[in-house]
Amino acid sequence: MTAPVLAPTPSALSDAAAALRRGGLVGMPTETVYGLAADAANGEAVARIYGAKGRPRFNPLIAHGASVEAARAEVRWTESAELLASRFWPGPLTLVLPVRPGGQVSDLARAGLDTLAVRVPAHPVALGLIEAFGAPVVAPSANPSGRISPTAAADVATELGDAVELVLDGGPSRVGLESTIVSLVGQDPALLRPGGLDPRAIEEVLGAPLRWRRDDPDAPTSPGQLLRHYAPAAELRLEAVDQRPGEAYLAFGATPEGVVETASLSPDGDLTEAASRLFSVLRALDREHALIAVAPVPEVGLGVAINDRLRRAATR
Ligand code: TXA
Ligand code: MG
Repeated sequence: MTAPVLAPTPSALSDAAAALRRGGLVGMPTETVYGLAADAANGEAVARIYGAKGRPRFNPLIAHGASVEAARAEVRWTESAELLASRFWPGPLTLVLPVRPGGQVSDLARAGLDTLAVRVPAHPVALGLIEAFGAPVVAPSANPSGRISPTAAADVATELGDAVELVLDGGPSRVGLESTIVSLVGQDPALLRPGGLDPRAIEEVLGAPLRWRRDDPDAPTSPGQLLRHYAPAAELRLEAVDQRPGEAYLAFGATPEGVVETASLSPDGDLTEAASRLFSVLRALDREHALIAVAPVPEVGLGVAINDRLRRAATR
């Protein structure tokens, strides 16, 4: 059985809020990707998320609030957090901060850590749902663990089946990549996951560089950054400037000579467009092809996050 996909009318929002109050799971559109939402304070509901995703228990979840104040109530706020939140929220940025004693988020959602990831999503349906529910929700991307994050309501309904009570249809996810995660826990701010917000914009606001594992082995990391992730069934060959027998070709910008393009991330070589199309195009190609050659994508701006997801998708 698959869950009903509902247009986000006031009555669908109130049904969804009621499902959350009962401890049920709701497919929630956000501007990054679709989330699988549950009452953040309800440990049983949170356990249901882990079950539905087949997710390792140690992987903590992001708490989503409807306002900066709601997020602040859950963590020990800092000056840097204030700078980033006032500039980028609502939006595709997640902040990791020390958890505030007495906050509402269940221990299980934090996987027992003394830190908490918080974000205010920019999608009106997500904000409407959280407001109708009246408290923070936790929401991982609404895919089975290790699979590509969904950017359309129908993908949530088919892949998570009856583990989810209903899916609110908010249209295709505008950003198309998960949020950028920044830790403000240690001495220096650290990039835990490149994502839908360009890290250079964050560095500009902070006036300081972000530490990142890729360049700095001592930088903090996130429990969820397993290398094999976002796995399509097809085999991916990256940085491909030619096409081998049997391969579909996923282009970015101009198609190289001698290549028959199967699909394109962005014909004009636009990184924002490529980010928004990445997961939906990978899903579509994966249904039809066993071998996918992917054009080089420049390692700048959103290209950093796109290449990060492509490398994970190519790892087997
Ligand atoms: O765009 C997004 O962030 C989407 C939408 C639905 O909001 N959500 C999402 O959640 O991508 P999820 O669960 O798929 O990824 C959350 C990541 C995981 O890699 C997890 O390890 C990390 O956030 N994380 C959560 N809490 C953390 C914490 N306290 N410290 C470090 N990493 C944390
Ligand atoms: Mg995920």
